[in-house]
Amino acid sequence: MPGIIKLLEMFIQNYSLLAHNTFGIDVCSKFFIHLTHISQISGIMDEVAERNLDFIILGEGSNMLFTRDFDGLVIHNSLKGIEKVSEEEEEIQFRVSAGENWDAFVGMTVSWNYGGLENLSLIPGSVGASPVQNIGAYGVEVKDSVVKVEGYSLPDSSFVTFSNEECGFGYRESIFKKKWKNRLIITSVVFRLQRNPVFRISYGEVARVFEQKKEQNLQSLRDTIIEIRRSKLPEVKEYGSAGSFFKNPVISAGEYRHIRERWPDIPGYEGENGMVKISAAWLIEKSGWKGVREGSTGTWPQQPLVLVNYGFSSGREIFKFSEKIRKSVYDQFGIDLGREVNVY
Ligand code: EPU
Repeated sequence: MPGIIKLLEMFIQNYSLLAHNTFGIDVCSKFFIHLTHISQISGIMDEVAERNLDFIILGEGSNMLFTRDFDGLVIHNSLKGIEKVSEEEEEIQFRVSAGENWDAFVGMTVSWNYGGLENLSLIPGSVGASPVQNIGAYGVEVKDSVVKVEGYSLPDSSFVTFSNEECGFGYRESIFKKKWKNRLIITSVVFRLQRNPVFRISYGEVARVFEQKKEQNLQSLRDTIIEIRRSKLPEVKEYGSAGSFFKNPVISAGEYRHIRERWPDIPGYEGENGMVKISAAWLIEKSGWKGVREGSTGTWPQQPLVLVNYGFSSGREIFKFSEKIRKSVYDQFGIDLGREVNVY
């Protein structure tokens, strides 16, 4: 009995997650807590262990599709704070708490004229989520700026640090999605930024738009990225979405050659170990799914890799829609699209 009272005091019960996922899915979590200070963590995890609760650690829910109510505890990572860690001639480092908003932090670094993150402007989500899927856009990945990731290890009940190398970063990959999934609460990330920024403008139309700006500086590069994103991607405040739903498939050079014999215009970008990253948006478009809508679920007309909740779709409806796309792509190209979004 005392245990139950403690549980009731600590956690909010039957809590709607509508405001906590950018797809705008109205599901309910049995228990919910805002994690606002690291001193709460061990107490929360003791309760989780005692009650044998399932749990999810949620940032801003921008990479998540809920298909059902969650019969466990949602830990909303709301840890806040930004501090300077070190400052050298070329480089400056910041420790940023996991619950800080990603783009607000990027905006700050640009206003201070520290380079490194500007190409990752306007990506929805929290700082703590950024290393989990190694967010990337316009030729830059967050791994290029991460010094270390700090968190609370659930198996060890202690705070741990992962150096950049220990994070196992790859394309939309890290050990936080694999071995450490549900075993770590990321508390902060330390970033390295450049005091003499170098503009990275070689991706797609970035250079063209950037060169049209009155001045070429970090702010106008951030503006360029924001402009390009806005022209191609839905605003999460207006339309329910979670950015790219699928990852771009990475295939061998041999497979790529084979596919190109039949579809010569398939875009491919050479990556590590002779592998080729091909465009999932292209595969989806060629499978006939660009701009398609079924009820209030659809693909975004300018970027079919993004699935959109135009109204009141359920998570199951969106999931079923995504599986139809996946099957079409598989039937036509023999390629199984991997999801970028987490499905619960
Ligand atoms: N394409 C089409 N049809 C389309 C759109 C694109 O065929 O309707 C082809 C074009 O050939 C284009 C290529 O796909 O050149 C690549 O398109 P884009 O530059 O839009 O990038 P992406 O590979 O589709 C990735 C990220 C995005 C990121 C952009 C820009 C993934 C899964 N997605 O998309 O990230 O904004 O690059 O760097 O890697 C996200 O992860 O949520 C996200 C939006």
